[in-house]
Amino acid sequence: MTQRVLTTESGAPVADNQNSATAGVGGPILLQDQHLLEKLARFNRERIPERVVHARGSGAYGYFEVTDDVTGFTRADFLSAIGKRTETFIRFSTVADSLGGADAVRDPRGFALKFYTDEGNYDLVGNNTPVFFIKDPIKFPDFIHSQKRDPFTGRQEPDNVWDFWAHAPEATHQVTWLMGDRGIPASYRHMNGYGSHTYQWTNAEGEAFFVKYHFKTNQGVRSLSSEQAAELAGKDSTSHQTDLLQAIERGVNPSWTLYVQVMPAAEAADYRFNPFDLTKVWPHSDYPLQRVGRLVLDRNPDNVFAEVEQAAFSPNNFVPGIGPSPDKMLQGRLFAYADAHRYRLGVNHTHLPVNAPRTAVVDNYGRDGLHATRNGTRHDKNYEPNSYAGPAQTDAALSAPLAIHGWTGTHAAPAHTKDDDFFQAGELYRLMSEDEKGRLVANIAGGLSQVTRDDVIEKNLAHFHAADTDYGKRVEEAVRALRED
Ligand code: HEM
Repeated sequence: MTQRVLTTESGAPVADNQNSATAGVGGPILLQDQHLLEKLARFNRERIPERVVHARGSGAYGYFEVTDDVTGFTRADFLSAIGKRTETFIRFSTVADSLGGADAVRDPRGFALKFYTDEGNYDLVGNNTPVFFIKDPIKFPDFIHSQKRDPFTGRQEPDNVWDFWAHAPEATHQVTWLMGDRGIPASYRHMNGYGSHTYQWTNAEGEAFFVKYHFKTNQGVRSLSSEQAAELAGKDSTSHQTDLLQAIERGVNPSWTLYVQVMPAAEAADYRFNPFDLTKVWPHSDYPLQRVGRLVLDRNPDNVFAEVEQAAFSPNNFVPGIGPSPDKMLQGRLFAYADAHRYRLGVNHTHLPVNAPRTAVVDNYGRDGLHATRNGTRHDKNYEPNSYAGPAQTDAALSAPLAIHGWTGTHAAPAHTKDDDFFQAGELYRLMSEDEKGRLVANIAGGLSQVTRDDVIEKNLAHFHAADTDYGKRVEEAVRALRED
């Protein structure tokens, strides 16, 4: 094997990588030791800001293959023919803890998927939960502050976690989900993924539909109990990352089947609850699951920093035939992600290989900025319109227009007949087996009983009572018993 030569960043060979250049034997170091200065300075700059949420994650490449005809609902090219395959990159994550936090914890999991389609990248940035804690993006920074480490104690504080939920009755459904059996997935392979929000699909005739995405794991759903998770997190903080990496290394490629629920756009206004409310699911009896295709993960990234840490997903990356719904949370996210990427990775983060389109051609008038690697070719004009056959607009909207009525203002929510915050939490509770209910109650009581203020406990208990009388009674008894201990 020929010996590779160690070089500086400018490509010059390095003579000595073990001894700094000094003034005489044992003397002070010389400022002219370019290799030493560059090595130390570069090392100081290795870390970039971590994601403000979902900091800890794992990624993998794969493909999406269409198995069923959905052209009646969307004109998205990557979904246009049975058998069509599109390359993908996925990043799974925990939400609340910082980089270095353990994988086996009770927390939602991110399920962020990038489709490298021929019409540009499509990002579906979902979770393993079909619903979320809040329904207005203005609450998101407060919500996350209450769940992340407290600025004074430096740890997650039950007082903060439950105080936020005490003031957010709409969180009861997601709290029930999170504290239940699915709250700690056994691995990233053994959980479902959801788009969670309602999105809009538009077909070739311009007809609009509202859709919800469900990725069902083909490995089967498996979860950990709180005790199993505590043990695993203590033994191996990277348990879920290791599982994913090793499965793909072994050729045991995890896969998911994608289904959608489809609501004709005209049915949204009169549905019994707001179909754009992220704290609610659409009953399958109203809108059954329709199969679309399968996602297969078959390749590990070569470099975690370059490909996983620098991956940038934005819910605003749509392709023709797919667009946003009026869900307020989604609307907030359409701004938040690319803004986070510009801060975390810089304005040219889309030039990085993991984020750049694969088959689609990027051709626009965006120029310059830090670390620009794609700046047009020699004869390209950098303004539009121009007389030199530069790229021009298509005049074809990506998705159908939405009819909007009413006055501007800080409105609470559109009125539908059944918009209360508790009925779906109660339905989820009543679906559970007796054993499952027991574990749910114990998990909630374990956290809530650590809260120091009685009024915060009472407000949370009122939410469980409102969801289901038996649910409320059992949580109340369990909390009282733990507090009397
Ligand atoms: C990451 C904001 C709600 C799923 C992030 C990041 C921000 C953010 C700023 C970090 C992005 C980065 O640095 O790359 C928000 C806001 C929300 C919201 C403002 C509400 C208004 C949600 C919801 C879901 C979700 C409802 C799931 C349905 C994710 C995922 C990631 C993430 C999966 C990690 C993406 C990755 O792997 O790079 N969010 N988020 N978020 N968020 Fe949200």
